[in-house]
Amino acid sequence: MEVVIKQDYEQMSKAAAEIVSEVLNTKPNAVLGMATGSTPLGLYQELVRLHKEEELDLSRVTTFNLDEYVGLPVNHPQSYHYFMHEHFFKHVNIPLHNINIPSGTTSNYPAFCQWYEERITECGGIDLQILGIGSDGHIAFNEPTSSLSSRTRLKTLSEQTIDDNARFFERREDVPVYAITMGVGTILESRKLLLVASGKSKAPAIAQAVEGPVTSMITASAIQLHRDATVFVDEEAAAELTMRDYYDFIYNAKPAAPKS
Ligand code: F6R
Repeated sequence: MEVVIKQDYEQMSKAAAEIVSEVLNTKPNAVLGMATGSTPLGLYQELVRLHKEEELDLSRVTTFNLDEYVGLPVNHPQSYHYFMHEHFFKHVNIPLHNINIPSGTTSNYPAFCQWYEERITECGGIDLQILGIGSDGHIAFNEPTSSLSSRTRLKTLSEQTIDDNARFFERREDVPVYAITMGVGTILESRKLLLVASGKSKAPAIAQAVEGPVTSMITASAIQLHRDATVFVDEEAAAELTMRDYYDFIYNAKPAAPKS
């Protein structure tokens, strides 16, 4: 695993966006796994800038979002469908039919989850999965004790996640209790993982995910099992890492990529 520590949120977002754009330059028809929440907003803004100002082309990209709240229609302002369209999809040139987001309103969740998994496989698997991390250590909505080989399924949100996400809703009671989420096993099958975290509220979860034991109590720790995972953090989120000098040393010692 590579850990990249940047001074602040903006620099972290730009560095993470660079990785996404490198993947797209190498493979213009890449399959991207998308995350929602406040952390990847800066990364999406930078990708939009690269698209508008530096000709980053996404016309052949396919996307799969990690999760969606159960019970929220696509036009609900807190649904992840709405979030993705507002903050990213409407600003870039990904064809609508290439965008996949779990349904929060299907009448048959098990069948939908199976279809979602099959659709990922049909599209050749996910090349690059963007991840955030919950303060309870979750990736996607894989809450503590989720199986590390879990697949896309319905999941009950933890009290901590409901508390954390209440800031987006008028009242805490409005936060959906269930979500449909890719499993940890689904995520680990992506060819490359890119996790972003910012702010001091994420410092304990980042330390546990990066330096703690692999455990279903912190599902983000499962990325230690992946052979190509990069964690981008700002100074505040890095605050509890014990080996930060080593991470900085590796990052700064890396030879620059040869210019073509
Ligand atoms: C959302 C998702 C979640 C968030 C996490 C952090 O698609 O997968 O795991 O990444 O809850 O959310 P923020 O960035 O709002 O702190």
